[in-house]
Amino acid sequence: MKIAVTGKGGVGKTTLAGTLAVILSQKYKVYAIDADPDMNLAGSLGIHKPISPISKMKDLIKERTGAEPGSSFGEVFKINPTISDLPDSLSTDYDAEGNLKILVMGTVDKGGEGCVCPASVMLKAILRNLIIKKDEIVILDMEAGIEHLGRRTAEAVDVMIIVVEPGLKSLETASRIKKLATDIGIRNVVAVINKVSSKTEEKFVQEKLGEMGVEVLGSISRDDLVVRADMEGLPLTDYPDSVALQSIEKIAGNIILKENVS
Ligand SMILES: Nc1ncnc2c1ncn2[C@@H]1O[C@H](COP(=O)(O)OP(=O)(O)OP(=O)(O)O)[C@@H](O)[C@H]1O
Ligand SMILES: [Mg+2]
Repeated sequence: MKIAVTGKGGVGKTTLAGTLAVILSQKYKVYAIDADPDMNLAGSLGIHKPISPISKMKDLIKERTGAEPGSSFGEVFKINPTISDLPDSLSTDYDAEGNLKILVMGTVDKGGEGCVCPASVMLKAILRNLIIKKDEIVILDMEAGIEHLGRRTAEAVDVMIIVVEPGLKSLETASRIKKLATDIGIRNVVAVINKVSSKTEEKFVQEKLGEMGVEVLGSISRDDLVVRADMEGLPLTDYPDSVALQSIEKIAGNIILKENVS
């Protein structure tokens, strides 16, 4: 299963993607991919050393297949790699068992250098051609907003989760994401409501999402332990008392149920 986590800036995409990855890795083999050029997924999981990005794979492809990076990516990926075929040097293990591997799309190295397009083309090709086994899950932490939908980076995902918070701004972004995701053929677009402080707030967002025809997978409370985890640079799963963590555990269960049914 391939899952992409999207939404407006700062709504909690990385918190959700990273925490889901750790929870799901207790049962499945999980690949968490940071597809945000302003990356911080690994950091949110307590991994603070640099990870070699997928964008660096250009050299590897050339070395192994002789193909020039660029227009020939499509050709290269006809070989249909399985995710476990991707070179070990591109991922970092979260746990000693190797059940959670973290990959990074890549970033703009220098200010003014411009575009992350080559990196996102790479990632798109990898995602489209990747063969994933039944007990493997890929979770993508996407860049904020809608630009990546124009680039179709995540077009090959099975589920797109839109994170929303109480407020019209993130709901407007959600509405755009829903439309664009549907346009590029993603059928399963669902929402998670984050930073909820009251039933009134939850109901407000639920109603708006209902009007958009977006199913809600679950809600996550506003929780000081999320902020503390962020300040301490540790994964939320290190804070078992966190109510947000408990909600994300439920959401993980809902994702698995949903995929098994549909
Ligand atoms: N449930 C929550 N309760 C309290 N704070 C939260 C909650 N979820 C996220 N936050 C805080 O909100 C901020 C943004 O979270 P996060 O980095 O996960 O969002 P994001 O959508 O990935 O942001 P970006 O768009 O920059 O990638 C962080 O400081 C995080 O600690
Ligand atoms: Mg983020």
